[in-house]
Amino acid sequence: MTLQEEERADLARDLHDEIGPFLFAAGIDVAGIPALLQDGRSRDVIERADAAGESIAHVQGQIRSILGRLRPLSFGAISLPDAITNIVTFWRGRHPDIIFALKLTAEDDTLDEAVRATAGRVVQESIYNAVRHGHPARIDIGVSREGADLVVRVDDDGAGPGAAELTPGFGLIGMRERVQARAGTLVIAAGQRGLTVTARLPLGAGV
Ligand SMILES: Nc1ncnc2c1ncn2[C@@H]1O[C@H](COP(=O)(O)OP(=O)(O)OP(=O)(O)O)[C@@H](O)[C@H]1O
Ligand SMILES: [Mg+2]
Repeated sequence: MTLQEEERADLARDLHDEIGPFLFAAGIDVAGIPALLQDGRSRDVIERADAAGESIAHVQGQIRSILGRLRPLSFGAISLPDAITNIVTFWRGRHPDIIFALKLTAEDDTLDEAVRATAGRVVQESIYNAVRHGHPARIDIGVSREGADLVVRVDDDGAGPGAAELTPGFGLIGMRERVQARAGTLVIAAGQRGLTVTARLPLGAGV
């Protein structure tokens, strides 16, 4: 890919990952407000409005940074377990009915930022997809070390893509591109229920 194409793909991924989920979440929060008002649950209304405000502020910040430099969001100093916990807390608040089971056994202090960022993106998009398309009762999120690889797995027990063949959209395509850019592999498997996304990221030097 030329540099310009790479930049465009980066921008597309950032728009997808940083704008879509947060607008979707704000939409859920706002859509719930009329019913809460009717029930006289004003405290919950305040909570929802605050949550929607936070999502919108996030989108505003992201648009500023995209306009500013088209630079991908940095995972900076945040550890992978903290990043995943943040993502899960975000979705737990909106879907308290879903069990989010975390099993994070990889040691974080040896992971470089690029690996953390890629792993975080896989978790983020896979959870978003599961919540949005699968309506699962449970989502298992695992990060472990297998030999020289970091293995990230997100497994949901929702409806899955069904008999129809899975048609990748921007989410799955972007996830695959991010993983391949780190010389990793991405396997998307539809079981009897739900979907399992497994990313394998080599931890070797220079990747
Ligand atoms: N966990 C899941 N359960 C059921 N279906 C899924 C799941 N993940 C993905 N899919 C199916 O795969 C399709 C492609 O997913 P993908 O993330 O690429 O696109 P999308 O989520 O539809 O849109 P976006 O580009 O905003 O991500 C989805 O439209 C959906 O039909
Ligand atoms: Mg998606």
